[in-house]
Formats: sequence, structure tokens, C-alpha cells
Amino acid sequence: MIIAPRIRGFICLTAHPEGCAQNVLNQINYVKSKGPIEGPKKVLVIGASTGFGLASRITSAFGSDASTIGVYFEKPPAAGKTASPGWYNTAAFETQAHAAGLYAKSINGDAFSKEIKEKTLALIKADLGQIDLVIYSLASPKRTHPVTGVTHNSVLKPIGEVFTNNTVDFHTGIVSEISIQPANEEDIENTVAVMGGEDWGMWIDELKAAGLLAPGATTVAYSYIGPALTEAVYRKGTIGRAKDHLEATAFTITDKLKDLNGKAYVSVNKALVTQASSAIPVIPLYISLLYKVMKAEGIHEGCIEQIQRLFKERLYTGAEVQTDAQGRIRVDDWEMREDVQAKVAALWLESTTESLPSTGDLAGYKKDFLNLFGFDVAGIDYEVETDEMVEIPGLV
Ligand code: NAD
Ligand code: NA
Repeated sequence: MIIAPRIRGFICLTAHPEGCAQNVLNQINYVKSKGPIEGPKKVLVIGASTGFGLASRITSAFGSDASTIGVYFEKPPAAGKTASPGWYNTAAFETQAHAAGLYAKSINGDAFSKEIKEKTLALIKADLGQIDLVIYSLASPKRTHPVTGVTHNSVLKPIGEVFTNNTVDFHTGIVSEISIQPANEEDIENTVAVMGGEDWGMWIDELKAAGLLAPGATTVAYSYIGPALTEAVYRKGTIGRAKDHLEATAFTITDKLKDLNGKAYVSVNKALVTQASSAIPVIPLYISLLYKVMKAEGIHEGCIEQIQRLFKERLYTGAEVQTDAQGRIRVDDWEMREDVQAKVAALWLESTTESLPSTGDLAGYKKDFLNLFGFDVAGIDYEVETDEMVEIPGLV
């Protein structure tokens, strides 16, 4: 079929298999171009199909020749209906990994559930024995708790007071003021239940109890901080509470891994266009200004550049891992540079619907958004018929 984008708000209902495959190939080629990393050999990536998780799987496999198991939640294709992009990304990744002689298998289902954890543990036991790196990169709007059965929905709200600021509808380019009502206690608890560290801790507990973590095993989860501009809705909002919890969980996990000499880290990554971040109010306007400034400075990075740098210059340098005062690895260092933030803050004040096409990188935002779904990718002919029924070669 001929596949075109069908956009509804923050999501695109269609995805292009060849476009997604090309994105994956570009990421693989980037990692190879940066040379080998003395990194992990057996890697489990939870949230492996898109964004930072996919970049982590690609960096592990093509930077360190690692065997990888990916866990993700994606929609398979049906006749006349495309799969979700992570499905096509994973198919492309596993095809390339197998062609390179690398072990790569995956599990599609709810990573929060007991069933998917058990299935993953059984696969590790049968095929890999022990894991030396676990990447935790889930971004989900909801979680059904495996013990209570309660389904928690996360919200993106400020805490304490109404937050009013500008935002942009990145499809239309219209800049407008929005006000977001503050969260109540239940909103905070629900968001922490979904995006906090409890599930990360459960994965590590279960892996360890089953003897599936290698001595010196490392686990990394991803966080975000960002500037004062977005603080009320991000770091000091409901999602920020979840990130506080995630960051605290790293210390709890490190304690539990002491006998294995293992360690848990949180890496603070830069703001990027992903399916998760497009849904957060105010962030798209911030990202379009940030892209403009970072591209002008020659320091813009996407997920793959971020994660390649995380592995090569933070996690696997041969020396001790450098962290900030709160124990976090920082690869948002270029985003948070004072000169970068001063420029973004100045542009923020002058950005209107009329000026944003020049003050911000709205075009870059839109392109990255379409790219997430395999559209607007260089080298792909979108007028050509394509087969939506793609299989994932390593799907268990
Ligand atoms: P993403 O939407 O691209 O990826 C989410 C992944 O989680 C996908 O592989 C998806 O299939 C998987 N997933 C979602 N629900 C699942 C479930 N129930 N079971 C199994 N898999 C499930 O998101 P992302 O932006 O790469 O986010 C990953 C992490 O990075 C998050 O913790 C996010 O907060 C963090 N982060 C994001 C940014 C950013 O700007 N995008 C910046 C810093 C940190
Ligand atoms: Na991810």
C-alpha cells in the first residue's frame, strides 16, 4: 500500500516501514562511524523500540558487539493497517543485527506485567545466561500495577499553583498562552506509580533473584531536568516527582547490587522530539528554540548521538563513572550550558506565531516528529507501494 502520515494531535496513526528502517540504518552507521566501545556484551533493554531505548540497543550491538534482548509494547501490522513505528524499527534493527552475526531477540508486551517479566527472564536464562547491562527506558501514560491490579494514569501538571505560559501547536505553528490547573495528591501518586522507579526496582529484583545478573552488572534509567522555563510543568510538576523517585531508586538498587559489585545509574539526557515529549505542554516550544540555538552552536544531538556519547564518554571509559553531586550522569551538559540557556530564554520572550519560524527551529521539530514515524526521511520514495506486513525476525 501507499503509506502517508495520518496525524491526530500528538500522534501519527500510520508508520512507514522503509522510512523507519532507514532511520535505524542511519543510527547504526553513526555508531559504527564513531568506532568500537569497550562496552557491555549481554544487554537487556526495556523500552527498546523507539527513542533513547532504541538508541541504547543500537549502541550496545553496533558499538560493542553485544547480544541484545529488547522489550517493548508496539502494535503489529494488520492487512491494510500499518504497525506502530517501534515495530518497524525493531524489525529493521534485528534484521541488521542478525546480518552482522549478532544475537538479537525481543518480546512485545506490557513490561509492567508479571507475565512479560517472567517471559523475559526465561529467555535470558535459556539464551544468554547472565546480563551485564540493563537499560530501563520506558515512557508510558499508564501502568497496571502487577500486585494491586490498579491502573494508574500519569498526568503532566504543575504542583501547587496554576501554571501559565506559552506553548506552540507544532503542526500549525500557532503560539498561544495556556494555563494548566495544578495536580492533586492522587495525580502525583499516579504519575509516580507510572514513571517513578518502582517497576525498574522490580525488574532488577527479579533478575537478581533468578541469578541472571552478571558480577559487576550495571543498570541505567533515563531522566530529564531542563531549565527554569519548563520547571513548573516538568521538573517541579507531577512528572518531576516521578523522576525524583526514579533517581532515588538508583541508590536503592545500587545497595541491593552491592554483593554483585553492581551499580544503578540515572543518566540525565537532553530534550528531544519523541512520542513521549511531544505530548508535554510548553516543551515543544522550548525544544524548537533549543534546537535553533544548539544547531547554530554546532552542538545539536539526537538520541543516537546522546547515547553513543553516554556509552563512550561516561559509562565505558575504563575509569570511574563521573556523576553530579546527586549521583547522576549528565549528557544534558550541552543543553544546560549557560550561554545556550541564556539565548533560549531571550528567544522565548520574543517568540510569537509570526516570529517563531525564524526565532525557533519549527521546521526541524516537524521533521523530527515525522521522522519518528518513518516519514520525511531522505532517500525514501513515498509514492511507491510498500508492504505493511513486516515481521520481526527475533520476536519470541
Ligand atoms: P519513547 O516513547 O520513544 O520510548 C518509549 C519506549 O517504551 C518504547 O520502546 C515503547 O514501546 C516502550 N513502552 C511504553 N510502554 C510500555 C509498556 N507498558 N511495556 C513495554 N514497553 C513499553 O520515549 P523516550 O523519549 O525515548 O523516553 C524514554 C525515557 O527517556 C523516559 O524515561 C523519558 O522520560 C526519558 N527522557 C526523555 C527525554 C526526551 O526529551 N524525550 C529527555 C530525557 C529523558
Ligand atoms: Na525509549
